[in-house]
Amino acid sequence: MSAPETAPIATAAGVRITGLRKSYGDNEVLKGIDLEVNPGQVVCLIGPSGSGKSTLLRCINLLEQPNGGTIEVAGFTATDPDVEVDDMRRHVGMVFQQFNLFPHLTVLGNCTVSQQKVLKRSKAEAQEVALRQLASVGLAELAGRFPGELSGGQQQRVAIARALSMDPQLMLFDEPTSALDPETVGDVLAIMRKLAQKGMTMIVVTHEMGFARDVADHVVFMDGGVVVEQGVSAQVIGNPQNVRTQDFLRRVLDPTHVEVYDD
Ligand SMILES: Nc1ncnc2c1ncn2[C@@H]1O[C@H](COP(=O)(O)OP(=O)(O)O)[C@@H](O)[C@H]1O
Ligand SMILES: [Mg+2]
Repeated sequence: MSAPETAPIATAAGVRITGLRKSYGDNEVLKGIDLEVNPGQVVCLIGPSGSGKSTLLRCINLLEQPNGGTIEVAGFTATDPDVEVDDMRRHVGMVFQQFNLFPHLTVLGNCTVSQQKVLKRSKAEAQEVALRQLASVGLAELAGRFPGELSGGQQQRVAIARALSMDPQLMLFDEPTSALDPETVGDVLAIMRKLAQKGMTMIVVTHEMGFARDVADHVVFMDGGVVVEQGVSAQVIGNPQNVRTQDFLRRVLDPTHVEVYDD
């Protein structure tokens, strides 16, 4: 069932996806995805490798061009051919598994460059915002360092501060803790949890089931390019109905995952 294309989204911060399709050549990796995220909601996207989670996230800010369906995000219709892509993207922060910091810029430089270029903020204003966001992730004192001098967990916290410095309405996280040493995973998850509590709208691809269970409002299980099961997080994780969800959760819910998170 698709929502009518003209139905207004609740507020600018939400996401509504209907019938989203994406193919690479003959390989259809998203086969008609429907997903709705209300403003202030946290949705965790789970599923096996290759199920299309990253492709879905990347379609939302048009890092990938969808082949069908509609995406409304932050008050824009991303799938409208006339959409102002740059304008839309500045409202959508993204955090990647591999941080994607600029290695030749300091931490402060990483957090100011787009503010100055895209938002046309003055250097002084951009630095003030950046330092505030770096303080919120506990890293203001590292502003003068280069990414290569930081741990993975610290780099990921910088990447989050960089995204937040753009005042996004929505944050997309693609396995933000998968590349981290176990001892730094908890720091990054704690920051994401704080962000969620502040009311940020978030879509998070993650294998951290403790986080999904405790922080997400909804959990969406994808497999083979379709949404197999979705619902309230405690329900999907604690009492999955579909046999594919049950199998997947059995494989990922080993005690170390929960332990790392609960630390
Ligand atoms: N740029 C690309 N070109 C071709 N195939 C791709 C590309 N990106 C992803 N795919 C394929 O799309 C499928 C879904 O990938 P992805 O969205 O990365 O899954 P997930 O994030 O769930 O692991 C995989 O089969 C992958 O090989
Ligand atoms: Mg992925």
